Amino acid sequence: MERAYNFSAGPAILPVPVLEKVQKELLSYKGSGMSVMELSHRSDLFEEIIGDAELLLRELMNIPENYKILFLQGGASLQFTMIPMNLMAGKKAYFVNTGSWSEKAMEEAAKIGDIEVLASSKDKNFSYIPEIPRVPSDAAYLHITTNNTIEGTAIFTPPETGDVPLVADMSSNILSSVYDVSKFGLIYAGAQKNIGPAGLTIVIVREDLIGNVAGLPAMLDYAVQAKNGSMYNTPATFFDLCSKIGF
Ligand SMILES: Cc1ncc(COP(=O)(O)O)c(C=O)c1O
Repeated sequence: MERAYNFSAGPAILPVPVLEKVQKELLSYKGSGMSVMELSHRSDLFEEIIGDAELLLRELMNIPENYKILFLQGGASLQFTMIPMNLMAGKKAYFVNTGSWSEKAMEEAAKIGDIEVLASSKDKNFSYIPEIPRVPSDAAYLHITTNNTIEGTAIFTPPETGDVPLVADMSSNILSSVYDVSKFGLIYAGAQKNIGPAGLTIVIVREDLIGNVAGLPAMLDYAVQAKNGSMYNTPATFFDLCSKIGF
């Protein structure tokens, strides 16, 4: 069958072997007599899928043991809200404004608490990556967008932030550029560009940044999501499978 060349950022083209494997297992995943879409998320088979997905991602990105990997929903866009809710804790968050997605992240964070732009390339229509000064040591975090999907610029060398957690939206270059995860406090990405189908969001978060804000709505609380192994509610089972095969 003829396949189209799809150069969209997302939902993006998926490897044919992944699609073929999904197709083959659609009526009976591993002899269960069910597709993964019908499988209980509490079943051993699904636990294996989500467990393997985590192990494979940990291996691919060399993610240290003191980081949790969360498989969430709501897209990278929900992280624009969850990150300030979980990480601000009354402090100011700083942003490097390198494009329209950085601006969206800033807009949402400003609804939760104080934010400040540390560096920006808005003056030249986001056509370059600005010099990033040292972030104040009392900052809640510094947010960067590693790949500016719309503008076509990227930050390949993350800024040094000392003890201030560095937060990165890697939605459009996760797994296609190599980063040292230990330099980041939190990395997030929607899966639909570089990993699998839309419907899954990956959050890689250092353990000490989890659980520092009390009283958050359960679904928006990293502590609840981490404690429940990303299964506080029904996870995006089909998308988890496709992503696991993709890894
Ligand atoms: C860098 C970046 N951040 C965030 C988003 C929003 O992601 P989502 O649609 O998963 O919410 C996109 C693209 O859609 C993006 O390219």
